[in-house]
Amino acid sequence: MLIVFIGPPGSGKGTQAKRLLSHLNIPHLSTGELLREAKAKNDSLGRLAAQYMDQGRLVPDPLVLAMVGEKLQDPAYAKGCLFDGFPRTLQQARSLDESLAQRGTPLDLVLELRASEEELTSRMLKRAAAEGRVDDNPTTIAHRMEVYRQQTAPLLDYYRFRGVLTPIDAMNTPDEVFFDIKAAIERRRLS
Ligand code: AP5
Ligand code: MG
Repeated sequence: MLIVFIGPPGSGKGTQAKRLLSHLNIPHLSTGELLREAKAKNDSLGRLAAQYMDQGRLVPDPLVLAMVGEKLQDPAYAKGCLFDGFPRTLQQARSLDESLAQRGTPLDLVLELRASEEELTSRMLKRAAAEGRVDDNPTTIAHRMEVYRQQTAPLLDYYRFRGVLTPIDAMNTPDEVFFDIKAAIERRRLS
């Protein structure tokens, strides 16, 4: 199965994708995590990406697309993938569609995690205290939300039009959200 998680910062994309890993036995591809790893290594991609990530801006499409393209060459991704935080722009979505069409494996499902900005901000400020992610501060969080509204939310119509979008109430507890996600996947399998 090929599943995309779309949702604003803090909506639980990473949390739920990790839970689904063992349930579906397919790998997780988080562009945010890959970019944070590159940043930690301080390689050329990481240094460049940091200039965008630390301000809550999107890393330019060509960099992200090259990184994802390389990752998808790995045979581990042949049987499916959980995309977390990718695609995030229309250009990324179109490019993903093209490469999946070449493989003959279109997307099965796009899960939209929905939650209020107030709840999301409070989750990220809690995480800031626990983990110290550089972009989890009030100014950068507000900018990440704005970037989501401007650049990523338009993808919802793109996927709705294709009939693959399923909204999920992400205000619930992680267990409840996971339950709803599994139910949406089951419905898709049976359809
Ligand atoms: P990325 O790492 O993707 O961050 P994000 O979208 O801002 O989202 P988060 O990872 O903060 O949240 P999440 O939805 O994964 O929620 P989580 O499960 O962690 O991107 C970071 C940056 O990298 C971007 O700003 C950009 O610069 C760059 N980037 C990444 N991808 C890119 C791309 N494709 N193109 C261009 N640039 C890109 O949960 C959040 C917190 O809430 C956790 O502490 C969790 O424990 C808690 N939590 C989760 N679920 C619940 C729940 N149901 N109830 C209560 N608490 C919960
Ligand atoms: Mg995440």
